[in-house]
Amino acid sequence: MVRIGVIGAMEEEVSALIRQMKDKEECTIAGMTFCRGSLWNQDAVVVKSGVGKVNIGICTQLMITIFGVDFLINTGVAGGLYKDIQVGDIVISSDALQHDFDCSGHEFARGEIPGMETSVFRADPELVDMAKEACELVNSEIGCYVGRVVTGDQFVYGNDRRKELVDLFDAYCVEMEGGAMAQVAWLNKIPFVIIRAITDKADDTAPGDYNAHVEQAIIHTVKLLAAMFLKLGR
Ligand code: ADE
Repeated sequence: MVRIGVIGAMEEEVSALIRQMKDKEECTIAGMTFCRGSLWNQDAVVVKSGVGKVNIGICTQLMITIFGVDFLINTGVAGGLYKDIQVGDIVISSDALQHDFDCSGHEFARGEIPGMETSVFRADPELVDMAKEACELVNSEIGCYVGRVVTGDQFVYGNDRRKELVDLFDAYCVEMEGGAMAQVAWLNKIPFVIIRAITDKADDTAPGDYNAHVEQAIIHTVKLLAAMFLKLGR
């Protein structure tokens, strides 16, 4: 049986999963409590990484080195960037990069990490398909998109900043962890997917929209994960 690692940045994102876990064992490393057990009949490790790229970078390496996960899912919320996306919809990563990586002063493209073979980390196509099918099955009332996730250590809000990310990266959503998990997964050759529910559009009203929609958004990601785990068991 494969072991699935699930990482969320915030309490709300992982608590619903941990509540449903059976035969739980907990282990705290670097201030992060890893919960191992049976989740929807799959061997899983679920953890709250904390917000931002450093937290999830450490967390991802621990998931791989200490807990031996076979693949990784990052779940949570995001600001929508793609034109048709609405609050409440879901984005599944086709690939991910770090929008705040900026060595443009040394003639690198924005988001490009000097010395790395790639800075755009491709999600595992099978996991992407599985997540999309699961989403369409259980969240048929919302939009489900496969597209680029861009990540940075900042909550992005404001029409100009939003436009910059759309123009530079052709991204579907922006958040604060996925691209860093993707880089660590890529370095370790571990398949991954990022699944994000949209709470806002990273525009002028994003902070208020986020607060208003975060709870409902997480309900969608939890339903999607439950259906995806069933598929993984087949
Ligand atoms: N997560 C949810 N909304 C976000 C935003 N606008 N920027 C970064 N992370 C987010």
